[in-house]
Amino acid sequence: MKFHIVTFGCQMNVHDSQWLARALEARGWEQAEEDEASVFVINTCSVRDKPEQKVYSELGRLARHLKRDPQMFAAVGGCVAQQIGKGFFNRFPFVRLVFGTDGIANAPNALERLAEGAEERVALLDFVDLYPERELAADGTVTMPGTRQAFVNIMQGCDNFCAYCIVPYTRGRQKSRKPDAVIEECRALANKGVRELTLLGQNVNSFGMDSGGTGVSFAELLREVAAIDGIERLRFTTSHPKDIADEVIAAFGELDNLCPSLHLPMQAGSDAVLKKMRRKYDMKRYLGIVDALREVRPDISLTTDLIVGFPGETDEDFEQTLAMVKRVGFESSFSFKYSDRPGTASVNMEPKVDPEIAQSRLQRLQELQNTITKESLKKLEGRETTVLVEGKSRRQEDSAVSWRGRDPAGRVVNFTSRRDGLTGMIVPVRIAQAKKHSLVGERTGEPW
Ligand code: 5AD
Ligand code: SF4
Repeated sequence: MKFHIVTFGCQMNVHDSQWLARALEARGWEQAEEDEASVFVINTCSVRDKPEQKVYSELGRLARHLKRDPQMFAAVGGCVAQQIGKGFFNRFPFVRLVFGTDGIANAPNALERLAEGAEERVALLDFVDLYPERELAADGTVTMPGTRQAFVNIMQGCDNFCAYCIVPYTRGRQKSRKPDAVIEECRALANKGVRELTLLGQNVNSFGMDSGGTGVSFAELLREVAAIDGIERLRFTTSHPKDIADEVIAAFGELDNLCPSLHLPMQAGSDAVLKKMRRKYDMKRYLGIVDALREVRPDISLTTDLIVGFPGETDEDFEQTLAMVKRVGFESSFSFKYSDRPGTASVNMEPKVDPEIAQSRLQRLQELQNTITKESLKKLEGRETTVLVEGKSRRQEDSAVSWRGRDPAGRVVNFTSRRDGLTGMIVPVRIAQAKKHSLVGERTGEPW
């Protein structure tokens, strides 16, 4: 059976798709290009914009493969599947499976039964109380052979109910995975040659603070993972400022392999807006975290998420966001225009910001960010660093191979070398030049 997966959305969806692919391969299925596949999986996201429309148009596009293969069928997973559920079956008869985040653990078996013709349609939409442990490949991991970087899930769902956010409704309540299961998977990955791990969860800082908790905090888990032999780079995402513990901040100064970067969604720079967003921190607390992080790790690269045009956001509120973005000096940020998500608290909040005003705020914010990004990358010129090589660059030069990788903070670095076979290696590099969103490096040290 040949399958093709299309993924929208966050790193958690990317990881879910990787896991699903491995689980299907373990059943003898083969990953294929779209034109050769008989089973399609669309992993969806509903956090912003017009997510349903995107999924409908993707399904509409895939329908053409029915001509080539009348047996073809599709599965829709992720947040939109959780919302629309069986509605997909009526609209697109070739959709035969819908699954939500908690249902994904059973999706491979369901796909197998559907392919064998044992069942017509399956919906896996129930939420469960505990983290549904997923099957791993025989080697105890989810990664493809030869991969040096891997994601590891430590929890699912979210309990925060920020006023604008649909995630608690589509991914359910927070459910932490058992620390032993996390550690075991991380060890297995390290044994397979993985050097960089990213621990994933909607709000990793509240790890263990739910019914799945065993008393092990996120800071403790982080230390245990960092101590695993072979893990040279450790990251985690996403962090909620209200939950980041002093021990986690301290870890940035203590654990050498904890990478000097943190994505810390600020969302807005005005206390009034943060309050309406139900974020449960103010800018004093946020800046306190930033300063504490910089004290223990002066080279830490901070990135963030920002929303403009939240209901009731005034010009002054927005000016405060600009001022705070400058004050923190985020190296980069993702910024979005607020959009109503069904069922969230802010749908009923007034007044809504005029879309044109929201658009012009977004533009101003992004212009400011571009300037800050440029300045902070420029400061790195001349510095020595290390790059974990991810593969060859798209553009190649005549006499040498161009490579692309990331420095410890996760910045993209391109460099050339006469040597081949560098993928997966960690190599020393000097930053020669800052580009708009990436760096150009030159080799240093031994002639590698
Ligand atoms: N409108 C705009 N942006 C949103 N985000 C989440 N919900 C919304 C919404 N309703 C943004 C937040 C979050 C990121 C993943 O998406 O900034 O951190
Ligand atoms: Fe959404 Fe807030 Fe949970 Fe993040 S912490 S997923 S923004 S509800």
